[in-house]
Amino acid sequence: MQGRDQDGDAVDGGSAGSAAADRELLDRIRAAPVLAGPLPHFDPDTAPAAPGPLFADWLDRALADGVPEPQIVTLSTAAADGTPSARVLLLRGLDSADCAFVFAGDSGSGKGQDLAARPVAALTWYWPAHGRQIRMAGPVDVLGEEATRRDYLGRSPAARIAGFTGRTSAPLDGPGEYEREHRAAEALVAAEPGRVPATHTVYRLRAREAEFFQADPARWHLRLRYTRDGDGWTRTLLWP
Ligand SMILES: Cc1cc2nc3c(=O)[nH]c(=O)nc-3n(C[C@H](O)[C@H](O)[C@H](O)COP(=O)(O)O)c2cc1C
Repeated sequence: MQGRDQDGDAVDGGSAGSAAADRELLDRIRAAPVLAGPLPHFDPDTAPAAPGPLFADWLDRALADGVPEPQIVTLSTAAADGTPSARVLLLRGLDSADCAFVFAGDSGSGKGQDLAARPVAALTWYWPAHGRQIRMAGPVDVLGEEATRRDYLGRSPAARIAGFTGRTSAPLDGPGEYEREHRAAEALVAAEPGRVPATHTVYRLRAREAEFFQADPARWHLRLRYTRDGDGWTRTLLWP
């Protein structure tokens, strides 16, 4: 495996070969098309007064146009010491009137520990086929037992079994341990179909700030930020 010294230089014997391979990869990504379009039009002047309806509108358009997996979103959190981390997950619920977003995970996972220490986070979507990035940030709270049950029991059988298999983000011995835990989880779900894993947690991020970025093939990008202001929102155009 290749390491790096303090100056960032490659330190193992294969460095010349891997540096050439890196350059070749870079050449290929530089040649790859980006924001080639055609991309949808966005007029900030006619955008709704609140960001929730605009999010719903962009999501609706993404679904209608077959944008792949628009429900996948990056959640960024920070640990108690400020260390940031980000991972993708599924959007599980939406309250567009309140600009609030629901996602679920294990309370013992990295995100669960971060959110227990600092209940604030950011969500980022990027839909390449539309050149659209959406950012939401704000406080996060944990929803109650009823919402947790509904979220977990509304999942596919495979997802419910996965929810009882092992502990998210804990070290795994290997495939043997995985298989054992999976079989035990299968038996448990079959015997107790109404049971919900104790650590399954449903979170809600209520946006304090929202930003919509519409990319343009000619780089005439548009950015519109919404900031919560009492019961309403302030809208600001930003330089891209
Ligand atoms: C497409 C996709 C969807 C995912 N959906 C979820 C999800 O809804 N909830 C979740 O906790 N993890 C989900 N994961 C796994 C997370 O990305 C992550 O690996 C896991 O939550 C542990 O991360 P953490 O320790 O930083 O919390 C998903 C991963 C992928 C690739």
